[in-house]
Amino acid sequence: MSRIALATCAALPDLHADDALVRDALAARGAEAEAVVWDDPTVDWASYDLVVIRSTWDYAQRRAEFVEWARLVDRVSRLANPLPVVEWSTDKHYLRDLESAGVRIVPTQWLEPSRVFTSRALHTRFPASGDFVIKPAVSAGSIDTGRYTAIDAGSRGLAISHAKRLLGAGRTVMVQRYVGSVDTAGERAHVFIAGEYSHSVLKGAMLDGPDVGVEGVYREERMSPLVPSDGEVEFAAQAVRAARRYFGTSADGVDLVPEPLLYARVDVVTDDDGEPVLMELELVEPSLFTDLAPGALERFADAVVARAEA
Ligand SMILES: Nc1ncnc2c1ncn2[C@@H]1O[C@H](COP(=O)(O)OP(=O)(O)O)[C@@H](O)[C@H]1O
Ligand SMILES: [Mg+2]
Repeated sequence: MSRIALATCAALPDLHADDALVRDALAARGAEAEAVVWDDPTVDWASYDLVVIRSTWDYAQRRAEFVEWARLVDRVSRLANPLPVVEWSTDKHYLRDLESAGVRIVPTQWLEPSRVFTSRALHTRFPASGDFVIKPAVSAGSIDTGRYTAIDAGSRGLAISHAKRLLGAGRTVMVQRYVGSVDTAGERAHVFIAGEYSHSVLKGAMLDGPDVGVEGVYREERMSPLVPSDGEVEFAAQAVRAARRYFGTSADGVDLVPEPLLYARVDVVTDDDGEPVLMELELVEPSLFTDLAPGALERFADAVVARAEA
């Protein structure tokens, strides 16, 4: 019987509702699966055959600690997704690597905390028209993320305060134009399980104004089932392949991540030219919305059990 840890955070000790279903599906397959809080110092990670990262959404302000934890687990057990993926994918700078590999991403200005930005310097880096978004490069659950209006002086001022707050905490700031189609067409999430396309869901817009701080570790999302276009699934598959190639070519050509990723979620939006662009490649702790697609829960549970027994 495999012992499987579903890693979660202290705010969700009994997992998010989706992952509670996964735990039950694993139990139904004869595995011993339990929710385990990632930063609980009493846990013996070596006692698990597989540690699956799930709702660990509180690491954004302490990524180093989280990656250190992943290294520990990697030494004594099996981690999914594996350590190199966790190291790379918990910081949205990975978007630059994907862009270099030919994946279209949402155009982004990166403001690094190693530089000192005056209010004036921040001001000049914001768009002159339309709405724009300020968000941290290490983020989960739309926390610390806000939407601002370029021509409104008050809104610009709030954006400057927001960026300063993040930079002051040593965090990289991402500035993006607000992608208008998120309000109309919505954001699409395409889920891959064990390297195979599984299902897609539609996500409603998350941002309606400045960052005012949110209680909890994530903002509630409005999701619905989605039948995607073939072209978009191919775009999503291309992003996953680019990530795989990235690991395959680093460190002297040794493939750091030889197996297909246990899970991948590709978040896609449409730009002003009507083309798909990558918002985020979620390889660490994505909600998989297995309740919104027939067969998805079973596919995921089967893949987890197979990985634990391999
Ligand atoms: N440039 C953007 N245009 C429109 N909406 C955005 C933009 N950036 C972020 N958002 C909204 O904020 C949400 C969270 O941003 P995201 O980059 O996915 O970070 P995370 O999910 O890791 O917190 C997105 O799902 C989307 O609704
Ligand atoms: Mg997201």
